[in-house]
Amino acid sequence: LNILITASEAVPFAKEGGLADVVGALPRYLAARGHDVRVVMPRYYKVDRERYGLRLLPGTLTVPMGIIGNMYCGVYEGRLPGSQVPIYFLEHESFYGRDSLYERDNEGYLDNDNRFIFLAKAGLEICKMLNFSPDVVHAHDWHTAAVPVLMNTWYRHDFHLAQAASLLTIHNMQHQGSFYEGAMDVLGIGWEHFNFLELEKENQVNLLKGGIYHATLLNTVSEGYAREIQTEAYGWGLEDVVRERSNVLSGILNGVDYGEWNPEADRLLPANYSASDMSGKKVCKRELQRSLGLPEREDVPLIGMVSRLVKQKGIDVLAEALPRLLDLDIQLVLLGAGEPWAHFYFGEMAAKRGDRFSCRIGYDNALAHRIEAGCDFFLMPSAFEPCGLNQMYSMRYGTLPIVRATGGLDDSVDNFDAAQRTGDGFKFWNLDAGALFDTVGWAVHTWYHDPEGIRALRQNAMAKRFTWEEAAQKYEHLYLEGMQRKLGEEG
Ligand code: ADP
Ligand code: GLC
Repeated sequence: LNILITASEAVPFAKEGGLADVVGALPRYLAARGHDVRVVMPRYYKVDRERYGLRLLPGTLTVPMGIIGNMYCGVYEGRLPGSQVPIYFLEHESFYGRDSLYERDNEGYLDNDNRFIFLAKAGLEICKMLNFSPDVVHAHDWHTAAVPVLMNTWYRHDFHLAQAASLLTIHNMQHQGSFYEGAMDVLGIGWEHFNFLELEKENQVNLLKGGIYHATLLNTVSEGYAREIQTEAYGWGLEDVVRERSNVLSGILNGVDYGEWNPEADRLLPANYSASDMSGKKVCKRELQRSLGLPEREDVPLIGMVSRLVKQKGIDVLAEALPRLLDLDIQLVLLGAGEPWAHFYFGEMAAKRGDRFSCRIGYDNALAHRIEAGCDFFLMPSAFEPCGLNQMYSMRYGTLPIVRATGGLDDSVDNFDAAQRTGDGFKFWNLDAGALFDTVGWAVHTWYHDPEGIRALRQNAMAKRFTWEEAAQKYEHLYLEGMQRKLGEEG
């Protein structure tokens, strides 16, 4: 198949969250299945052209930006590392020549509507330049949700795109790309599409809503989340729109890049280990404790957390539970960055309780690996979690996840059953400090009183796999289904 993937981030070039991991991995596994896959994203300031050997393609893209008129951009070509998959970077200094991808000081850029409408349009215009006719165009989240909208309108009779099906993957329902209604004039598809069914929500242009309405097919990154977003609690006001399209909605769990995340070969660790020889994990634990200034004790359960510090991840609940948690004989390490209050609060707590709690504010991939390896447990008390990657990494590292049973966390973790010695983690359902405390307490109690149970859990967790091979195969099925459906629409 000819597959065009449009997105706002991809590892290793630019990353805010798990979206980048997915966009960096999925195309490589699709290509391995024999497909012609192309990726398009912005050339942000920090995407270093020399380091990645990017090559400027001849010619410029003309991008019709409605009332603004035509805009132009150059295109750089590179490859996804470890593959031959071409990735195209849109070169537009005034839109993308900035330090951060989406925001400054926790406020979205004021011109995000234009920046991402441009991404969607240029992502489609590029087909002409490449003389590429996709069978499927695969868009991700609100940043490229305008793609299916444009394919059904502006590009409806386009030589390269008229036949193509579209798939919109929702990685996060909270962020919808909601803008002043004037954005309709930049989309340039006519105000008749600014209606309650398509793009309008509360008098604003809602790009995600438009994408959900127009995409041939929809999916989310777990089956559980696909069900959840049809409810008021998780739909962020779009649950009705999603329900309308539930017949084309499915869930595909993300895979893990086990080339990166494998305790047997991970070069970022002080020692390697495997399910059959866990001695290296003890070294990792000791080194982690030492580097964080925690007492070097093997006999105390060490709990880790690596996360964006935002409400989605349940950090408010963690903050509430923290004083009580630190009354237990445990150690806790938190790595993350996000909301200012969290930097302050967790920083203060670490200063006060440095014997049990360590907090690192910032983004640090090497430390994330060392936490996965050195900890005994990994905490994810998310309010919602479309898929979640860290619980999967944790399992591979024999670090037992303690999770709130929501979305992908619920789908990927099996709860401990003490009698049967089955499961690979510990789950709780209520999003409150009490439930979090009780479940950490349960895990810690098990650690102290049932070492055989912990050993069994670890073995189960380390044997579990979430492969991209499997996920890519499922996406391939979805693409074929989308093409069928598209044919049917025309026939
Ligand atoms: P989300 O995309 O919602 O943030 P995911 O679990 O899908 O959640 O992906 C988060 C990714 O970002 C993981 O690869 C995780 O290791 C990484 N990550 C998040 N915060 C940090 C941090 N402070 N330092 C290093 N890696 C981080
Ligand atoms: C989003 C979700 C996360 C998911 C990631 C990749 O950022 O918050 O749960 O793993 O996308 O799909």
